[in-house]
Amino acid sequence: MQALAIKGGRPLHGSVDVPGSKNSALSLLSAVILAEGETVLHNVPEIADTRAKARLLQSFGAKVEWREGSLFIDPTELHAAQVDEEVARSIRTSFFLLGPLLARLGRVTLPAPGGCKIGARPVDYHLKGLSALGAEIEFRNGYFTARAERLKGADIYLDKPSPGATQHLMTSAVLAEGVTTIDNAAMEPEVASLAAFLNAMGARVEGAGTPTVTIRGVDKLHGCRFRVPSDRMQAGTFLVGGAITGGDVTVRNLLPGEQLPVVSKLREAGALVEEGHDWIRVAAPERLRAVNVLTAPFPGFPTDMQQPMTALLALARGVSTVEETVYESRIGHIQELNRMGANIMLQGGCVSIIQGVERLQGAVVEASDLRAGAALVVAGLAAEGETTIRKIGHIDRGYEKLEATLRSLGASIERIELGDSQSAVTSDPHL
Ligand code: EPU
Repeated sequence: MQALAIKGGRPLHGSVDVPGSKNSALSLLSAVILAEGETVLHNVPEIADTRAKARLLQSFGAKVEWREGSLFIDPTELHAAQVDEEVARSIRTSFFLLGPLLARLGRVTLPAPGGCKIGARPVDYHLKGLSALGAEIEFRNGYFTARAERLKGADIYLDKPSPGATQHLMTSAVLAEGVTTIDNAAMEPEVASLAAFLNAMGARVEGAGTPTVTIRGVDKLHGCRFRVPSDRMQAGTFLVGGAITGGDVTVRNLLPGEQLPVVSKLREAGALVEEGHDWIRVAAPERLRAVNVLTAPFPGFPTDMQQPMTALLALARGVSTVEETVYESRIGHIQELNRMGANIMLQGGCVSIIQGVERLQGAVVEASDLRAGAALVVAGLAAEGETTIRKIGHIDRGYEKLEATLRSLGASIERIELGDSQSAVTSDPHL
């Protein structure tokens, strides 16, 4: 089993470029099968989740080739297939292929989705939306089977602005007959990028990035070239990494507007933040001060940055609260941060009360999910001594070349191979 070994206590200095966005790439990789002909996606991050999605497309007959950060995808020979359940269950967006495969093939069977274990993560909005578009859906033995001759436009209202449901239903509706509206749609930047991509393929999508998205169905779509935007969560993680270590880091190739919630909290906590049109510099004093954070759908504070931010606040002067409102159990980082000497209590299941401590100490910890892993990495960078992070498969799902990037900022971080005895699950009788 592999682990990350970090020798902490070194302020990060320098500048880094942000790679392509995981969540945007995963959503484009659902839409891409709607095209007649080849599509080229540039700036695709080579991470476990995009590799899994590419394998799923291949199992449905799409030709997929990686060439230096670009993916060449030709779905001309798409056909029905039994997917590898392990691969499909490794990512949540395997399920977001249901609508587009249905639009192409008229019938599709897919297993219930997987993804990080951070809450129940139901798919009821997806199912209701697809049914409104005319799909007949059956669930049996862990598999969904959907059938439809041709989907038909409908008015859909989402109870919550779910990014996944918004993107899945947009992608399903572009080849439907007539007009579809999605109200209370998610406004995340990934929704707007997906709309730009679909429109580049010949779709007619308007309003993406606002609460109402309108999709006028077209008869066919063509391939195109498209650049995956940069990853706002990796960008945010590097900013937090700079701040938690009391360093001075410039993160380039990002959209500053997308970082507003994170930047506001870093400023409120006492960090100096400067920004240009595609970069942000953060310089932090040795100790930041406590702030309160409330996660919310875009443009609120992103749930995906909640865990790294909690790590930062574990070292801030005073008492911070972090309230998670999107997922009911995105809390796997807390016990591990406490193992490193943090003082965090959970109230009511999703409010972290953080009494800032002066220092964290290196320890052997485990990543329970992707962003919990990111929280442990930034905590390890700031902690005294050596931190070993196990179960880093979670981190590999979403961070490209993480060690190399952090080393370029002066961190001491290595990927190591653990023996069987060191890989055993920790059970600490004191916790
Ligand atoms: N929801 C429902 N029913 C549904 C769909 C969603 O109740 O049918 C609720 C969820 O329970 C949750 C909220 O809506 O409370 C948002 O969940 P959603 O399913 O919309 O999230 P997602 O689309 O599966 C994407 C990102 C997540 C990110 C969330 C929120 C991808 C692949 N994943 O998830 O990213 O946390 O939006 O911004 O795009 C990550 O990158 O670490 C990650 C988990």
